[in-house]
Amino acid sequence: MAAPALTSLCKNAFVTGASRGLGRAFAEMLLAEGVRVWGTAREAGRLDRLAQQAGFTAVVLDLRDGARAETVFAQVAEQAGGFDLVINNAGYGIFADALEVGAEAWHGQIEDMLQTPLRIGRLALRAMAAHGRGCLVNVSSLAVEFPIPYMSGYNVAKAGLSAWSESMAYELAGTAIAVIDLRPGDFRTDFNRAAERAERGVNRSRMQAVWLRLESALEASPPPERAAADLRRALLRGHRGVLRTGSFFQARLAPVLARLAPGAWRVAAQRKYFGLK
Ligand SMILES: NC(=O)c1ccc[n+]([C@@H]2O[C@H](COP(=O)([O-])OP(=O)(O)OC[C@H]3O[C@@H](n4cnc5c(N)ncnc54)[C@H](OP(=O)(O)O)[C@@H]3O)[C@@H](O)[C@H]2O)c1
Repeated sequence: MAAPALTSLCKNAFVTGASRGLGRAFAEMLLAEGVRVWGTAREAGRLDRLAQQAGFTAVVLDLRDGARAETVFAQVAEQAGGFDLVINNAGYGIFADALEVGAEAWHGQIEDMLQTPLRIGRLALRAMAAHGRGCLVNVSSLAVEFPIPYMSGYNVAKAGLSAWSESMAYELAGTAIAVIDLRPGDFRTDFNRAAERAERGVNRSRMQAVWLRLESALEASPPPERAAADLRRALLRGHRGVLRTGSFFQARLAPVLARLAPGAWRVAAQRKYFGLK
């Protein structure tokens, strides 16, 4: 029997942060399946490679301006005739001491990675509710379960996004609208290169040790196409709720061990992993 096609579930998709990394892999996977994709970046030129593919439309969107992002999303959704799949993917890290990071950077990260994705997500779900079906994918992180030292704003934003995904799962239970809380482990993207870093102050050497650990983990991690393949399978089987993706250790073994281990052991293991005394 032939494998089911994604187009039977989804014709039009909206993907934020499609210019590179996980977002581009999601967009390319969907285009290969025959799904039409509207993908975003802060500059249209960054989407040139995808724009050469049939079925792709480039959209300029900056998460920092939430009200504008809502307007852009609503306009594009109208032009597209609606989206049956929306992937809130765009994001970035700030690697800084939680007590030193500036208010603007802190609030900016919450705006970009929590408030604006929620604005887009609410609009998307309202339209899906009116239509009777659809799927929203919120790209969170395994950092929700294993917070990354010196990335407190990121951990908070992703924890909020996952909490919202779970809230929506309860509210939408029994409907044909799915919300997926996608939690990637490390993937080999430009995430670390794009991160804003401020390693200074009394904790500088600790921060440098943690950063080296983050770098080596990312270098040894799977390519983003693996996450796209996992998402494709999840969409085809009608998955809802938490979806972990990544290496066997990060996405399978560590979450099970963390659930079984007493809290103090979990913290000790996490400190060891990051080389923190
Ligand atoms: N890679 C990992 O190991 C990993 C692990 C867990 C979770 N994640 C999550 O996965 C998502 C994608 O990350 P990635 O690894 O693919 O990173 P990436 O390669 O750096 O790509 C980030 C994408 O987000 C967009 N973006 C960044 N800041 C933006 C802003 N203020 N407004 C609009 N778009 C913005 C970028 O677009 P521009 O072209 O405009 O810069 C780019 O398309 C993020 O939410 C990240 O937190 C990644």
